Amino acid sequence: MRKQVIAGNWKMNKVLNEAEQFVQTAKNEVPSEEQVESVVCAPYPFLHTLVKETEGTPLKVGAQNMHFEESGAFTGEVSPVMLKDLGVSYVVLGHSERRELFGETDQDVNKKVHAAFKHDLTPIVCVGETLEQRENNETMNHVESQVKNALDGLSDEQVKQVIIAYEPIWAIGTGKTSSAEDANEVCSHIRNVVRAFSSEEAAEAVRIQYGGSVKPANVDELLNQSDIDGALVGGASMEADSFLKLVEAGK
Ligand code: G3P
Repeated sequence: MRKQVIAGNWKMNKVLNEAEQFVQTAKNEVPSEEQVESVVCAPYPFLHTLVKETEGTPLKVGAQNMHFEESGAFTGEVSPVMLKDLGVSYVVLGHSERRELFGETDQDVNKKVHAAFKHDLTPIVCVGETLEQRENNETMNHVESQVKNALDGLSDEQVKQVIIAYEPIWAIGTGKTSSAEDANEVCSHIRNVVRAFSSEEAAEAVRIQYGGSVKPANVDELLNQSDIDGALVGGASMEADSFLKLVEAGK
């Protein structure tokens, strides 16, 4: 049985005071770590405070990106060493907004995944197709290539620990959710890709989240699918009440 992982991605939203209020409400209300993994992926300036405030609670803190280098002349960037030092546990890598707006390539994502493992951070690797690719029936090939490139060079043991987030780009922030069956079909394909690329054990262990307009009203149906092991949530993770409903569904 794979444990569900529900991660909120706040993107570039909130100020520190709002972030603190969120975790103060949520940190003692989320279910135990044995039941479900609950994560908030916050902007860099809040990470230190949020890690301190959630210490000893089941609510974990993630970053939304990082550089793959450990240090150096990379103005404005944040390294895996810095995240680990702060006590961050997870890092979202290759989100479609990073790929589309900031030119991140599959190769960058692969380097970041390796850097995450080197520094003991759990990578949440995002993949997903555009509307055009979906309409041209390119979804499966596109997602397959993104997964293979992201996981290239990882050991079986590492692949087992990766979290893959399938986020169809046309469903992000649009209110359009993929039907639970369609989402499961792609997640099941991703698991088969991992099976062929890595091993049966890795395919059975790897967690695959769905992301794209997940909300309390549709989360149960999505999480009940055979190959969906959690959710990566933007809009509906912004308020503690809504986030708590999502993690409750993951139990
Ligand atoms: O990473 C989560 C995200 O891209 C989905 O956003 O607002 O559609 O839940 P949203």
